[in-house]
Amino acid sequence: MTTTYLVTGGAGFIGSNFVLGLLQNRKRDIRVVNLDKLTYAGNLANLGALEGDERHIFVQADICDREVVAALFERWQPRYVVNFAAESHVDRSIEDPDVFVRTNVGGTVTLLQAAKQAWEQPAEPLGYRPGVRFLQVSTDEVYGSLGAEGFFTEDTPLDPHSPYSASKAAADLLAQAFFDTYRLPVNITRCSNNYGPFQFPEKLIPLMLNNALQHQPLPVYGDGLQVRDWLYVEDHCRAIELVLEHGVAGEVYNIGGHNERTNLQIVQAILAYVAKNVDKVVDDGLITHVTDRKGHDRRYGIDPRKIGEALGWQPQTAFEQGIVRTLDWYLAHQDWLADVTSGAYLSYYQKIYGDR
Ligand code: NAD
Ligand code: DAU
Repeated sequence: MTTTYLVTGGAGFIGSNFVLGLLQNRKRDIRVVNLDKLTYAGNLANLGALEGDERHIFVQADICDREVVAALFERWQPRYVVNFAAESHVDRSIEDPDVFVRTNVGGTVTLLQAAKQAWEQPAEPLGYRPGVRFLQVSTDEVYGSLGAEGFFTEDTPLDPHSPYSASKAAADLLAQAFFDTYRLPVNITRCSNNYGPFQFPEKLIPLMLNNALQHQPLPVYGDGLQVRDWLYVEDHCRAIELVLEHGVAGEVYNIGGHNERTNLQIVQAILAYVAKNVDKVVDDGLITHVTDRKGHDRRYGIDPRKIGEALGWQPQTAFEQGIVRTLDWYLAHQDWLADVTSGAYLSYYQKIYGDR
């Protein structure tokens, strides 16, 4: 019997890596229904390798659209629902919080309602109904900011600071409520910063690489000593698969690989890579300290012991290897980078960086 995954946001950065990983690396009889609105962050080019693959069904729609979502559940009866769809960029949330609440909170409730309805359907007489598993893809940002010591565990109280992380925390609470109230089998995963192919160049690594390639200033917020905990995107995707298949319903799993770096360290690594592989004239002189992000969280660091001990997950990609793989990918796909940084990207860039 074919197992159906309903993946939302599967044309974005992590979602497309997840869909590609499922369909290209797995032999099992599966189908992926990929529901994505194709906002500025969604890009069908990310899924080009699946052209002609009938196991991939792409549906352009909004997760807030109740009728469409209900119809998809009715038609495809997904076994697994993985909700990646979100507005994901902190800087944009500071400029325009409304759409973050609409998609990240309203859209998640719409999906939870549809999943609950499907899950409550009685089985056909003598029929087999395997049920629904709902995985809410969340973020370590819901925990707020750390000092110099310690790590986020699953028991760390939620303390989000940006409109983005507040909207993700609200979605987590709703997902948890659907488990507590209705026993809908829900999991929440909270991952640290991802990097890898197909990440939109509003985010630190591809933005800095793109600027370095163009000999443009690299805008480091504040002193650049903020710390992020980086994980290669494929390691995140494997963790999600494990939680879907073996996670205990109602549980939260943190995902991270103890890979903390300051932003300056990341930027310097990118500059060194470009100087070595592309253009000797590029150096640290491009680094420009600009006005800090409002409410900027100082440090994130995940304690991943629970998912390691309960599900045997370990990251497989060392940062030194993953960053080279990532930067190589962008160099080999400069047409992709040029496409997504034309048009609307230029006005976005001016809006966020113009006055800094
Ligand atoms: P992204 O911005 O690259 O992709 C988001 C996708 O969602 C896009 O394809 C977009 O078109 C789609 N989308 C947005 N609004 C939609 C709507 N209303 N209906 C349907 N589709 C919609 O994001 P990403 O970096 O791939 O993040 C994916 C998920 O993982 C998000 O939920 C994010 O909060 C979470 N997350 C991201 C990171 C990270 O480092 N990027 C880390 C931890 C968790
Ligand atoms: O921790 C997980 C989160 O990681 C995800 O939930 C978010 O969806 C994802 O966007 C990411 O959030 P960050 O805010 O950490 O990522 P971003 O790439 O925007 O920034 C990383 C760090 O780099 C942060 O401290 C801000 C800084 N920065 C970022 C940009 C874009 C700069 O100094 N200059 C920049 O131009």
